Amino acid sequence: MIIASNFKTNHTRKATREFVEFINNFLKDTNDKHQIRVYPSFTALDVFDTVTAMKVGAQNFYPVDKGSFTGEVGYEQLEEFGVDSVLVGHSERRHILGERQEILLKKFHFAKEKNLEIIYCIGEPQEVREAGIEAVMNYLWEQLEGIDLAYERLVVAYEPVWAIGTGLTASLEDIQETHARLRERVEAPILYGGSVKVENIYEVLSVKNCDGVLVGTASWEKESFCKMIELAQTLKA
Ligand code: PGA
Repeated sequence: MIIASNFKTNHTRKATREFVEFINNFLKDTNDKHQIRVYPSFTALDVFDTVTAMKVGAQNFYPVDKGSFTGEVGYEQLEEFGVDSVLVGHSERRHILGERQEILLKKFHFAKEKNLEIIYCIGEPQEVREAGIEAVMNYLWEQLEGIDLAYERLVVAYEPVWAIGTGLTASLEDIQETHARLRERVEAPILYGGSVKVENIYEVLSVKNCDGVLVGTASWEKESFCKMIELAQTLKA
C-alpha cells in the first residue's frame, strides 16, 4: 500500500527535514512493508537520504525542463533533488489555482516522459456526489480522459472535493463503490484521500480496492503520520 503525506503550504525547511528524518528512522526500525511518500513545499525540497520504501516528491511542477515561466519550477530543478514522484491534478490546483484538464494532461504526459511516479488526483464536488454514483463516475471518467491508464508508474488518488480539509470523510460504502467502479478500467493502485486521520485510516484501508491513502491535515504532525503508518502495518501489504 501507499501511505502519502501532502504538506500543501505547510512546514519550513527545518521542520520538513525533521519530519523526513523522524519518519525515516521509524521505517528503518520497523522494516515497513508499505510505500511511504512525503510531498513537501518546493522551498523545503532537498536531497534526502531515505530507505528505499520512502520517497520525497513534489506537489507540483511546470511541464518543461527549464525556461521562462516566472514563479514556476521545472524538471531540471526537481531532478537536482532526485525527485521521482509527483502529484498532478490535486483538487486545490484544479479549483483554487484554476488548472484545467489541458494543463493537467500536459503535466501528466511530461511526467510520464520523464518516467516519474505520478499520483493523479480526481474527485467530484458535493453537488455531483448528491446526484448519485452515475454522475460521480461520469465526472471522474472525464477527469481521467487523456490519461494513459496503462502507464506503469501511475497511481490514481480518489479524493472527493468536499471531503478535502473539511473533516468530512466519504462513507466507507461510497469509497468502496467508487473504487470498485474505477477498478473496472484502472489497474493502477487507487488511493483514497479526504480527511483521512488516525481515527479512520484503518477502516479506509480495509476497503476493498483501496490501495492506500493520500493524507493532508492529519499527516502534518510527524507523530500522527507515524501512527497512521503503524496502523497500516497491521493490514495487508
Ligand atoms: P485532507 O487533505 O487530508 O486535509 O483532507 C487530503 C488531500 O488534499 O490530499
